Amino acid sequence: MIHLRRRPALLAAVPLAVTALLAAADPALAAGGVGAPGVGDPYFPLAGNGGYHVDHYDLTLNYDPGSRRLEGRAVLTARATQRLTRFDLDLRGLKVTGLTVDRTRARHRRDGQELVVTPGRALRAGEQFRVTVTYSGVPGPVTDPDGSLDGWIPTDDGAFVAGEPQGAMTWFPANNHPKDKASYDFTLTVPEGRTAVANGVLLGKRTAHGRTTFRWRQTEPMAAYLATATIGKFRVQQFTTRAGVKVYNAVDPREAAASAPVLKQLPSVLDWESKLFGRYPFRAAGAIVDRAPQAGYALETQTRPVYDRAPDIGTLVHESAHQWFGDSVSLTSWKDIWLNEGFASYAEWLYAEQHGGKSAQASFDALYATPADGDLWAFPPGNPGSGKNIFDTPVYARGAMALHALRTAVGDRAFFRILRAWADRHRHGHGTTAQFERLAERVSGKELSGLLHTWLYAPGKPNTRTKNR
Ligand code: TRP
Ligand code: ZN
Repeated sequence: MIHLRRRPALLAAVPLAVTALLAAADPALAAGGVGAPGVGDPYFPLAGNGGYHVDHYDLTLNYDPGSRRLEGRAVLTARATQRLTRFDLDLRGLKVTGLTVDRTRARHRRDGQELVVTPGRALRAGEQFRVTVTYSGVPGPVTDPDGSLDGWIPTDDGAFVAGEPQGAMTWFPANNHPKDKASYDFTLTVPEGRTAVANGVLLGKRTAHGRTTFRWRQTEPMAAYLATATIGKFRVQQFTTRAGVKVYNAVDPREAAASAPVLKQLPSVLDWESKLFGRYPFRAAGAIVDRAPQAGYALETQTRPVYDRAPDIGTLVHESAHQWFGDSVSLTSWKDIWLNEGFASYAEWLYAEQHGGKSAQASFDALYATPADGDLWAFPPGNPGSGKNIFDTPVYARGAMALHALRTAVGDRAFFRILRAWADRHRHGHGTTAQFERLAERVSGKELSGLLHTWLYAPGKPNTRTKNR
């Protein structure tokens, strides 16, 4: 099988037979009833799949931290977007022990991260169908193009589970791309004394025969990479905020002292962000503070970020801001990652500015002093070039600088209206850089293409006329 990026410019120059092959590999042109093996993301060509959307995942998982064995059953409720004689799910490692489509056994085979499913009968375009996969094995993380680990990361007392950008498929069969969002139910069973924390609201907890089952429900749509099922020995704190948001914090006791003063500020941080970005998008919130040096990063898992260690206030503000920017408003392509990281980083600048720290202009100026050959200017944030670069400095820092340049150009009133309109119009959906640019122009009434092009797409250190504020 070949998986190619879309390169329409090349098509004219290649012979007809090759053109036909390219067309067959193009997800947009998938034909013959076969769902494409990817959604067409050039940075991760096999991520997600074509031919259907998942509406709901019902995941039942049993994990034994001692043997590190996982037993799972995933029930996906999906809808075909074309006639399907065959379709793929994404799943890495693990052994599939059973697979049905609408309760009828279906043929399936593994091909790298693709789980290729051939249902007993063709699915009609528009038809809803249910896939049940039973599986087991010892899950482990995937190594990303930048060398970082992502997915199911075993710890000394459980597992740190963070799937950006690819890792969801290390623990459940998924349509593994943020383009396809779904609701989730989790039923997680672990040895008594361990806690299993997923996204959304805790529906219940039951202990029998030395094992505890936690039932979690994520109602609002969620990208697969934002799902978690983090397991460990945790201290739990639960309360409801004045705004009615259910907070569940789970903290590794070894990180409790260091994280307490920061976690205490979660409600006020969410309040502050709600004032800036609009109503908090979810009915649940919280934090999972683990000790996971193997991971080395935190992730904005939906409703309840996972931290590899006690976070500082900047990190808490960053992951909380992602709930609006990245989680509620999702990417359609990993190339647009600055829409997540630039916004979350700028939230940190704003927090400092409004809480007695340095002004956003001072943050901008400090970065702007970076010499032209510095890493900050290695590539423009709107075009990282490959999946290897999506978590690099230009995406975070120059992404935030792009927003500050926009703010300087349109003024505070228009700028904060743009942020709120972005979160509101695309709530629980998706947004692209082009859509953000159009919205910024509409709200501000200004022509911004030159400025945004300079900050988002022009290679090298931009010349700036950013006024001092
Ligand atoms: N998105 C995470 C953040 O809030 C960072 C992250 C996720 C990451 N996966 C990663 C960083 C892999 C490096 C490598 O910033
Ligand atoms: Zn981030």
